[in-house]
Amino acid sequence: MTRPSSTNVFDYTQDRFACDGVPLGDVAAAVGTPCYVYGARVVRERYRALDEAFGAVPHALHYALKANSTMGVVRLVRSLGAQVDANSGGEIELALRAGYAPSQVVFTGVGKTPAELEQAVRLGVRTINAESPGELARIDEIARARGARARVALRVNPDIDARSHPHISTGLRRNKFGVALESAFDVCLDAARRPGLHLVGLHAHIGSQITTLEPLAGAAATLAALARRLAGAGVQVEHLDLGGGLGVSYDGGPVPDVAAYVSALVEATRDAGCLLILEPGRWLVAPAGVLLATVVDVKVHPGGRRFVVLDAGMTDLLRPALYSAFHRIVPLQRDGRPDVACDVVGPVCESSDTFGVDRQLPDPAPGDRVAVLDTGAYGAVMASNYNRRVTPPEVLVDGGRWEIIRRRQTLDDMLACES
Ligand code: LLP
Repeated sequence: MTRPSSTNVFDYTQDRFACDGVPLGDVAAAVGTPCYVYGARVVRERYRALDEAFGAVPHALHYALKANSTMGVVRLVRSLGAQVDANSGGEIELALRAGYAPSQVVFTGVGKTPAELEQAVRLGVRTINAESPGELARIDEIARARGARARVALRVNPDIDARSHPHISTGLRRNKFGVALESAFDVCLDAARRPGLHLVGLHAHIGSQITTLEPLAGAAATLAALARRLAGAGVQVEHLDLGGGLGVSYDGGPVPDVAAYVSALVEATRDAGCLLILEPGRWLVAPAGVLLATVVDVKVHPGGRRFVVLDAGMTDLLRPALYSAFHRIVPLQRDGRPDVACDVVGPVCESSDTFGVDRQLPDPAPGDRVAVLDTGAYGAVMASNYNRRVTPPEVLVDGGRWEIIRRRQTLDDMLACES
């Protein structure tokens, strides 16, 4: 266990909170709040660290688009050499528009529609990670009708507790994902016999924000053992796709470092002789993003709590409301005011619209600005129009310059879909 390997791209410069030297108060003044800001350097450095941790071990990194699929971010990730994991027809289409070839896309998802399966087979994606015997049969039928052979992997549910939040744990038998381990061997043999399928891999993704390595290594070892057993039966798979899931430090405390993570996976799969695929999302982009917000009101209930009301809320960043997720909140400007305890809340009419309880912030006043940290993953992508709130703009800082990569939505944008 080491300190998080994130860099100090976000830090104070003369009491002004900055990203790669760009004072975020300036960005907030120019673009308005709420607003997401991403530091390209963080993504670059993290991608390189993950890639280099493999050394000479054959591997492929398929960025999980669901973590953040804003076009400017996807293009950045593509420029680094990452391929992608798509979880819907929309994400596949987005990847193509970002310049990816179908052979650079793996397609995962628990409820792929016939139209999505057609799309994936027609395009010839690298692998469809199949969720069930029924889905394999449907892919086989679609491929045969096209005179094609679809590359598939079986998603295995290894019944391993990821020890993360229950809403984002996916590897237990009671979760809806994949095929139970005890049926997986037979399902693979059946897939290998189907003329429309080419069984190229095995897949597992046991959850997200995982901060202990044993469950991840356990799932990897389970897939490796299954691959060996299949090889013994004459079915050789090319790759093991170990999913995503490596957690980040939201509170500044220690989490497993990326080199330890990779060496645990490599160790667990060494004798399977397969290429390793990973689908990292959060680890690559969460620490690269902050959500900027402005204080709109401060109210102190008599003898009670001090509420600091922001212009950002659960429609911009859902994680605290949905998972009681912790995100650090820091002032954009430090000016020596003493810290006071406050509950930092959003403007939406839900008590779950709370970003932080009992936080220490320098005596906030309306007009002050704050940054909610580590919101580069599962932030903007989970924004909604609840309360007819427009989705926030996104800014990318790169090499000391910044640009808007997604403008703020307008009410007209929102109403464009309505008759
Ligand atoms: N591969 C598959 C098949 C996945 O379902 C996921 C995430 C990933 C890869 C990427 O996992 P990561 O490396 O980001 O942990 N909205 C939640 C997280 C949901 C994750 C869903 N699957 C949150 O805000 O914490």
